[in-house]
Amino acid sequence: MCGIIGYSGPLEAGNILLNGLSQLEYRGYDSAGIGYFDTASKVHVVKETGKVAKLKETLSSAGDGSHCGIGHTRWATHGGVSDVNAHPHRAGRVTLIHNGIIENYHRLTQEFDLESSLLSQTDSEVAAWILDRFYDGDAQSAIRKLAECIVGSYAFCIMFDDRPGEIYAIRSVSPLVASYTPSGALIASDLTALIPYTKSYFVVPEGHIVKITGYKISVFNLDGEKTAPEMMEINWNTDAAMKNGFPHFMLKEIHEQPEAMKNTILPRMAKGLPDFTDDGIPDDIFAGCSQIHIVACGTAMHAGMVARALMEPVLRIPVMVSIASEFRYEEPLINEHTLVIIISQSGETIDTLAALRLSKSYGSRTLSIVNVKGSTIARESDYVLYTHAGPEIAVASTKAYSVQLAALYMISCRMALVRGSFTKSQASAFLTDLLDAIPAMETMISRKIEEKNMVTHLINQQDTFFMGRGLDYAFSLEGALKLKEISYIHAEAYAAGELKHGTIALITQDVPVIAIATQEHVFSKMISNVREVKARGAFVILLTKEHAQADQGLADIHIRIPDLDDRFTVFPIAVILQLIAYYASVGKNLDVDQPRNLAKSVTVE
Ligand code: AGP
Repeated sequence: MCGIIGYSGPLEAGNILLNGLSQLEYRGYDSAGIGYFDTASKVHVVKETGKVAKLKETLSSAGDGSHCGIGHTRWATHGGVSDVNAHPHRAGRVTLIHNGIIENYHRLTQEFDLESSLLSQTDSEVAAWILDRFYDGDAQSAIRKLAECIVGSYAFCIMFDDRPGEIYAIRSVSPLVASYTPSGALIASDLTALIPYTKSYFVVPEGHIVKITGYKISVFNLDGEKTAPEMMEINWNTDAAMKNGFPHFMLKEIHEQPEAMKNTILPRMAKGLPDFTDDGIPDDIFAGCSQIHIVACGTAMHAGMVARALMEPVLRIPVMVSIASEFRYEEPLINEHTLVIIISQSGETIDTLAALRLSKSYGSRTLSIVNVKGSTIARESDYVLYTHAGPEIAVASTKAYSVQLAALYMISCRMALVRGSFTKSQASAFLTDLLDAIPAMETMISRKIEEKNMVTHLINQQDTFFMGRGLDYAFSLEGALKLKEISYIHAEAYAAGELKHGTIALITQDVPVIAIATQEHVFSKMISNVREVKARGAFVILLTKEHAQADQGLADIHIRIPDLDDRFTVFPIAVILQLIAYYASVGKNLDVDQPRNLAKSVTVE
């Protein structure tokens, strides 16, 4: 969850660290800090609560002339949000930043008798002190000993007072990428901080120690032997991680969806059919399975819910969806005949990663849908289907959701073809329908959702309800999450027929109900449910297809999407639900891209 950066090289370290922290801020933003060697090779640390912009002001010219340093932006886990708990932590000759959780930090505090030394309440400072105890001039040996003590996840960047110009790093589970560039050597939690400087990078291998100096990066295994990490290419450009004139990343990313859909779908079409040859995904994983289990968190899990509703009627095999944080502690009913589909934008979500590892231990075949190239989930899955959304910076996921759906739709189609549930012409028609959803998304992006008076109505309410049936219910789950996380308006998604079994008690005058009614076979049932809430005074926002028959006056606001086959309405509906949440957040003057208490990448339990 935290963002980490380290730099050593010929340029001003202060600028590079602060700019890097701005890029990484979406990983956590309750406090920030940097540590650096000054021109006299003395270490300084500046850290405080608040965002990176505040740290920039505080620092002003501090760090000038430095060519080596580390920076951190925090999402608090152990210890509240305070200056002292911000990173870097100083302990004797050690300056350390950490992303992850040290599960045995309490026992280590006692074992190393650190109680009186600790200034903060963090697990990270415990690691810094232990490292200082072990350090006798041999950095690698001290880091190895530290790694042997720790139970948990970590990415550490470390400086030793007597080693100016050098940064050491080690990771277990928590991500780190690094690159040696003409501008110097960089290490960071993710690629967004490297993009301005390089096109090539490597993922720091787990259980390896990285040594960074101004002129090179060396990687060693825990036996002290030098190893050559696998270099990878970055296919994102600098623009992709900028707002490019949009007021917020979220709005920019909503607009990028049609392009991201094309980038994800078109390279996987051959003769009008889905084709995963270039991804190295063999058909036998689709032909040979007797059930599908989809595992993910949050928005990615909601994409899985849509896939379940889409796949089961076509494939006629059980398709289950699990929340990764639950699945990992269950004894799942999966085996070697199960295809486990793992979905993750970041490819680093700790619960999803644990679910992947558990699935493999049951002998299941694993296929992951991941956006970040080279991420841990991508590397550890048997097969990976990369989505091509480019970097998603806003904490609220938008374009990643659409492309996860696109990937799932393509998998469903290929699977139906391979298993004989679709003929070639049915599969081809399915993909044509999928492509037709893209202009429908464009249409919804260009409609002036914000000009409808629903936002004014929504922002004055405490609670809202989303409802739908079948696929529409699956879509509504994501609509409710989007609204909650960025507008702080309580939202619940309900299967429309279930509302009257209790929840309808909460519908009173003016409570907004967002009713999604795009599924023709249950359309009349949905309209009855809309009447039920309307009769109790709800403020109804109704979403239907263009030519759906809905009585005048049934809804307070009626938004129509282009007529599409029922299976594909999720794409334009997703755009509307994202825009509703976006404008509600803007209307309440909130921090759209970095909502309170959240972080983009959840790499802790
Ligand atoms: C939703 O807007 C969030 N960003 C969140 O629910 C997210 O989808 C979830 O944390 C999973 O992240 P991942 O796709 O990177 O694994």
